[in-house]
Amino acid sequence: MKIIFANWKSYKSLQQAKHWIEQVAENIPQNIKNSTQYEIIIGPAFSLLETLNREIQLTNLNFQLAVQDLSPYGVGAYTGAICAKNLEHLNIRYALLGHSERRRFFAETDKLVAKKVIQAAENSLKSIVCIDQGYIKSQAEVIRDENLSVPLVAYEPLSAISSTPGAKNADPSQVETIVNEIKSEFVNSKVIYGGSVDASNVMKYLEISDGVLIGSASLEPQKFCDILSQLK
Ligand code: PGA
Repeated sequence: MKIIFANWKSYKSLQQAKHWIEQVAENIPQNIKNSTQYEIIIGPAFSLLETLNREIQLTNLNFQLAVQDLSPYGVGAYTGAICAKNLEHLNIRYALLGHSERRRFFAETDKLVAKKVIQAAENSLKSIVCIDQGYIKSQAEVIRDENLSVPLVAYEPLSAISSTPGAKNADPSQVETIVNEIKSEFVNSKVIYGGSVDASNVMKYLEISDGVLIGSASLEPQKFCDILSQLK
């Protein structure tokens, strides 16, 4: 199954999140709604998870939920942190970890990300570890040192992420080379791609990877449905 991941970052109020679900439920292509070929995952802010969990069930959308981050610690005196146990009532399947925005704005390191991977694994959440070219090997090494494996790795070149000034689409053949390099470091992981994915290029990236991570083009329901309608 290929992954289609909508990374909402810190966007969306509760009202906007509900509106998104209603619109997507109305406009999703029928062949995608019950597809066994694609797994669609939404990664909203923590505060939206409970409502989205309910709305997904009410609208019969076969979508999964992910958190965009996770505490590197378990239950305990860690003010402000959300740990896996805090989420266990919410039907969450995935944890997106070590996104470049977390590394950049919150000083996350390879080691810290590995601690989060441990927390995810101990609590039956599937990690999606985000990496860029500069730290493929170092992140893989730390993960190996901890005797961990990660189910999914997201290759996200900073130069292609739409929030980077002057962002440029990555050339699919170059992405393919890096995806293969990542697969040789993270031996049993699926590798997905993220960075300015939209309806015009989604199939190109899906041909050379195990899925896509979509930021800005996932925010508007119509744009997201346009992407879904490209899937073959
Ligand atoms: P983008 O974001 O699709 O807006 O480039 C991708 C991401 O940062 O996950």
